[in-house]
Amino acid sequence: MTEPAARPVRTVGILGGGQLGRMLALAGARLGLRSVVLCPDADSPAFEVAADHIVAPYEDEDALADLAARVDVVTYEFENVPASTAAFLAARLPVRPGPRSLEVAQDRLVEKTFLAGLGIPTAPFRAVDTSADLEAGLAEVGFPAVLKTRRFGYDGKGQAKISNPDDVPAAFAAMKGAPAILEGWVPFSREISVLTARGLDGALVTFDVPENEHRQHILKFSRVPAGLAAGTEAKARAIGEAVAAALDHVGVVAVELFLVETAEGERLIANEIAPRVHNSGHWTESACLVSQFEAHMRAVAGLPLADPTRHSDVEMENLIGDEARDPTRFLAESGASLHLYGKTEIRQGRKMGHINRIRPRSLRTV
Ligand SMILES: Nc1ncnc2c1ncn2[C@@H]1O[C@H](COP(=O)(O)OP(=O)(O)O)[C@@H](O)[C@H]1O
Ligand SMILES: [Mg+2]
Repeated sequence: MTEPAARPVRTVGILGGGQLGRMLALAGARLGLRSVVLCPDADSPAFEVAADHIVAPYEDEDALADLAARVDVVTYEFENVPASTAAFLAARLPVRPGPRSLEVAQDRLVEKTFLAGLGIPTAPFRAVDTSADLEAGLAEVGFPAVLKTRRFGYDGKGQAKISNPDDVPAAFAAMKGAPAILEGWVPFSREISVLTARGLDGALVTFDVPENEHRQHILKFSRVPAGLAAGTEAKARAIGEAVAAALDHVGVVAVELFLVETAEGERLIANEIAPRVHNSGHWTESACLVSQFEAHMRAVAGLPLADPTRHSDVEMENLIGDEARDPTRFLAESGASLHLYGKTEIRQGRKMGHINRIRPRSLRTV
């Protein structure tokens, strides 16, 4: 689809007002870009750092028309932007990343089919709509396996592990009738991710690859360098760049990868695509001259991308729920940079902020 005639970008509309929208707005402001954030939640973290905001549901066409009139381009902080919302906006002004990125990342079955089409290895997968599909799928992928809703899952929600036949009925019931995907279990030793930015002109830059450690299905730490075997980092970068190019993506895209150790060495299996800035890239704010947030805003605004060189080794730690109750203690830590999202209410499992701890860059390159 051809974009409506682009005008020079001075103001960016951001769909979604969470911490990612907040950090995008902050990064944009440094480049002189104003942000107008649209989010249904009146208490959105991004509102207080954006030039302006609109409180409205994503389906509210009057609000969307108002947003379109006030901004030069629209981007988003989350992949579940309704297709009708993206189409309504795209008829009026450029929406970046475009519809293909949303369509692929919103549905795990479309996503895995897309990855497989690029020759990128994934877990074996089967579509599951009925319990008969589940039985047939299990006969093919075997145990253990994991059943996931095709849409709307995050932080491990909408998933059920199936270790043996006894788990099958509960796993099927957990989908609550939603279309699902069955995946074979990947015996990974580590999880990594690759973050690639693609400009409007098709230029690609890729950040160094972090290793990600989850607790209770929520990202807790990202560390760079990840200490990968020679060649693995290059393979991860090639996956990020192939995905960005095939989606005709504009902005940052993250691909979550499993690292599997085999007798032949490290193998990478792609798990998930996020067509946006990603929690596993928060370290770029402190360890790179240009962060993932700035890279995304540059791309969306049609500006040149920057060199993503990392000047420091770094560990990002998410502050989740009560861990953020007394954040001042982190302020005293040397080599650490605290970032709080301004969320008023602490809830269990809620991402409240993060800390980036940097050290001089080691000679190890990956
Ligand atoms: N096929 C799989 N094999 C092994 N572990 C998996 C598999 N799928 C997901 N997991 C584990 O569950 C976590 C969450 O799954 P993911 O598909 O990334 O969903 P989301 O992050 O959207 O909740 C992964 O980071 C990984 O630790
Ligand atoms: Mg994930």
